[in-house]
Amino acid sequence: MEKAKSDGADGCAAEDEEVTQSLLITGASQILTLRGRTPRRGTSLSKIGMEKNGAILVRKGRVVAVGSRSSVEARPDAKEAEKLDVGGRVVIPGFVDSHTHLIQGASRADEYELKIQGASYEEIARKGGGILNSVKKLRAATSESLKARARAALEEFAAYGTTTLEAKSGYGLDVASELRILQLQRELAQEQRLEIVSTFLGAHTVPSEFRGKPDGAERYIRLLLEEMLPEIAKRGLAEFCDVFCDRGAFTREQARRILTEGKRHGLAPRVHAEQLSRTGATQMAVELGAASCDHLEQVNAADIRALAKSKTVATLLPGCDFHLGWKQYAPARKLIEADAIVALATDYNPGTSPTVSMPMVLSLACTQLRMTPAEALAAATINAAYALRRDNKVGSIEAGKQADLAVFEVEDYREIPYYFGMQRCWMTMKSGQIIYMRD
Ligand code: NIG
Ligand code: FE
Repeated sequence: MEKAKSDGADGCAAEDEEVTQSLLITGASQILTLRGRTPRRGTSLSKIGMEKNGAILVRKGRVVAVGSRSSVEARPDAKEAEKLDVGGRVVIPGFVDSHTHLIQGASRADEYELKIQGASYEEIARKGGGILNSVKKLRAATSESLKARARAALEEFAAYGTTTLEAKSGYGLDVASELRILQLQRELAQEQRLEIVSTFLGAHTVPSEFRGKPDGAERYIRLLLEEMLPEIAKRGLAEFCDVFCDRGAFTREQARRILTEGKRHGLAPRVHAEQLSRTGATQMAVELGAASCDHLEQVNAADIRALAKSKTVATLLPGCDFHLGWKQYAPARKLIEADAIVALATDYNPGTSPTVSMPMVLSLACTQLRMTPAEALAAATINAAYALRRDNKVGSIEAGKQADLAVFEVEDYREIPYYFGMQRCWMTMKSGQIIYMRD
């Protein structure tokens, strides 16, 4: 709601500007603040901090007050603020999508059809489809077309209520292409309002030019460790380093080497773990102090205990299981009951989860993972912010945090997951600016 700078001749320009940068939001049937201690574990996951007749005061892109309407309106700085009545809708913190593969060359709808006809994800990958198919498409694409596709996706993310997202490289798999993806992410972060947190995923799979050769995997890992990582660190192109540790990708010991070297370069570890098979990646990543372990369909009791005792977030991606038509979802209830920090994300990617919709992920979390709507909302906001090490800035509606909000066309927050596959987001705001508004 930022307005053009006033240039009044009476010398009050600065003051006017401050006033017009204030916004008082009222009229919500419910405001879910998600305020309080982070991260949320166990029973605290469902504490959503609801205000029924509440108000939010925003100034210069930050929340300055949230609480009962009377207490917020009584503040002297609320009187001068521009007013926004959200007409009985529900206000939540903008979603934090902590796992996406944003930059991609094209869809893989052809493989989708093959999977429906019975081919497995791994069979398709073994025949040069899967990640390698996306690598071929990305390498052949111009930077402009990659950017245009990502820009369109970012607009869609905003339209579904997301205000911060993580984005991984991993469809380049050579020095130039991996750097190109991360550089495009940096440019996109500067060109539009959504916050993009970059992760280097050079260890997504061994690229075809290294396959079938003696020591091929080892030679690719050396390229990654000796050329990609140092250059990415030098240019400050990524905050995190990820490895797809699984059957057909990288082993636990290879992943340990890559993540340890990433750490040495200042990139915090996160890992694709226990998705297709149990590799022990989770316990290895916990030992390294990883920010998150993602997927986790195949975790065992010891993995759950290790996560529960750690600060590593268990990020669940039910969109993958849904899209692949799998019956086995991650054991969310066991993870929550053990006190692990659970987050939810889309895993937006062309192979296993072509969606940008966090509301759809919440619907899947409720029906398939048996998470309550309150738990799912906390997992998609404050705990996801913690997984990206941004819980001091985003993920809840609290004084001092960015004014990142999503307003839904519902009267009760439980209707956000209840309506599935429907576009109910009415407005999205990033740092006090409206980035999406339903016509
Ligand atoms: O998160 N598991 C590995 N990576 C992606 C899928 C990649 C692809 O199929 O393109 C995932 O599911
Ligand atoms: Fe992924």
